[in-house]
Amino acid sequence: MSLQNFLSALDSLQSEAIATLDAASDAEAFEAARVKYVGQKKGALKDIQKQMGSVAADDRKSAGMRLNEVKQAIEKAVAEAQSRISGGGESGADPTFDPTLPGVRPTIGHVHPITQTITHLTEIMGRMGFEAAEGPEVEDPHHNFVALNIPEDHPARDPLDNFYLATAATGAEKQNVEGTRLLRSQTSTVQIRVMANRKPPIRVISLGRVYRPDDPDATHFPMFHQMEGLLVDTHVTMANLKTVLRVFATNYLGGDVEIRFRPSFFPFTEPSVEVDFLWDGNWIEFGGAGMVDPNVFRAVGYDPEEVSGFAFGLGVERLCMRRHGIKDIRDLYSGDMRFLSQF
Ligand code: DAH
Repeated sequence: MSLQNFLSALDSLQSEAIATLDAASDAEAFEAARVKYVGQKKGALKDIQKQMGSVAADDRKSAGMRLNEVKQAIEKAVAEAQSRISGGGESGADPTFDPTLPGVRPTIGHVHPITQTITHLTEIMGRMGFEAAEGPEVEDPHHNFVALNIPEDHPARDPLDNFYLATAATGAEKQNVEGTRLLRSQTSTVQIRVMANRKPPIRVISLGRVYRPDDPDATHFPMFHQMEGLLVDTHVTMANLKTVLRVFATNYLGGDVEIRFRPSFFPFTEPSVEVDFLWDGNWIEFGGAGMVDPNVFRAVGYDPEEVSGFAFGLGVERLCMRRHGIKDIRDLYSGDMRFLSQF
């Protein structure tokens, strides 16, 4: 083939290929054009490259240079057509996509007010040297009752007042059999777990969920949280207890909080008190407290002649509700973001 013919064949290939690729309006037309011109096996470019062998040896250099130019021009047209059709190119932008519209912001999580309260209470008690301890929510009667000096006939053990698990025996008469499990009804269980594993002095708090089959109303919910406190040392007195609770209340609720003890009874403390905080002119009960009962010390292998201690259990929801002016405990657990995101 003469150089002349070869060059004019290249020219017409170039204009035909570019025109076809520019005109391709969908993926199918584009693919057909791509295969036709730059296909590896039978593409027109491959074809014409082979014909270069028939050009006179002296002319091959200029034939090759032109071939390269044509090849680059066609490949550029292929790339342009491809990006136009796949929507990447400016000219082929998807008409339904408006880049000026504001984006969709991912919703970012938010710490629940009770979790915030737990963090806050842990921090206040930490400053007084109380370390946070945890215990399981599924408990056995030993930790929930027996070691806490709660006898078998005590009403607190009534199946109607506890969530005994169906995996174990349920009836009142079977509460004590091996393998009985219940959702803990108080965090006092953690006192036992901590004392059974450590020697005094002890200064711990435990914050967590407890469960009781109460009908939900503004002040009751079948699941709520308690902050348990336990201090065991030598020569511990009720004055120490009152000081710790007062410092705690002042820190959490504000400078003008007073506290008051009312005589009460808990099987695991002797003497026992209810703890009220004076706030905004009202006495409000926040929980129970007292000096650890000698029977509890014996149950964990401590000698009540040697050590003494105090314990308390406060309602976390009550504290949180007081501080934030929340009127209904159910709001905390409704999962309503309009309420929760206020905190
Ligand atoms: N466990 C008690 C309850 O749930 C609260 C309580 C009272 C905890 C006295 C204590 C305590 O540690 O000393 O009602």
